[in-house]
Amino acid sequence: TVLNVMKDYDEMSQLAANVLVEQIAKKPNSVLCIAGGDTPRGMLNYLSHLTEQIKIDLSRCHFFLLDEWVGLDRVDKGSCQSFLYENLFEPLSITEDQIHGFDATSEDLTGECNRINEELEAIGGLDLAILGVGVNGHIGFNEPGVDFSSNAHVIHLDEVTQKVGEKYFTEKQKTPHMGITLGINQIMKSQKVMVIANGRRKRGAVESLLYKEVSSQCPASILRKHTDFQLVVDEDAFLE
Ligand code: F6R
Repeated sequence: TVLNVMKDYDEMSQLAANVLVEQIAKKPNSVLCIAGGDTPRGMLNYLSHLTEQIKIDLSRCHFFLLDEWVGLDRVDKGSCQSFLYENLFEPLSITEDQIHGFDATSEDLTGECNRINEELEAIGGLDLAILGVGVNGHIGFNEPGVDFSSNAHVIHLDEVTQKVGEKYFTEKQKTPHMGITLGINQIMKSQKVMVIANGRRKRGAVESLLYKEVSSQCPASILRKHTDFQLVVDEDAFLE
């Protein structure tokens, strides 16, 4: 595990954006997976700025969406897709044929999981996964208790995830109870995995990720077994 403790959110975001840019430079047809949520916002902002300064060709990259709230679509505010379209796909003119995501509004969610599993398998798996971590230690919507050998699946979201998730939604919009997500097996098979985490509320998760025994009670802890895992945190999220 490579650990980078950065001064603040801004520095964390810059470093993460640089890792992403290096990956694309090294392999222009990289297969990438970037989490939604609040954490990657700064990184994606830097990426947009960087692409104005230096030439970065994203036209050959592929993007797999990590997860989605069941029932939500690209147009729904608070969905993972709406975040990625707004902060990544639209500003950087990524085209639909480069984007692989679950249709979380489908009546056949198992079919959606199978389709994404097949697409990811056919493309040869992920090159780089950039993930956030939940306060309960989840990655994607791989919740405590998850089977580490899982591929894409539908899950009933942890109480904590539902509660914390309220921040993405207005009062009128109810936080969904179900999620659809790539599985731990697919994340562990990614050539490289980076987790970014900032702020005091992530301290517990970062501590468990780094120091507690590897257990499905903290799904992120399995990443310590990955051969190319980088954790980038800010000082607030890290207590020595
Ligand atoms: C979102 C996702 C989640 C978040 C995690 C942290 O696509 O996969 O696992 O990364 O819940 O969320 P934030 O960044 O909002 O603290």
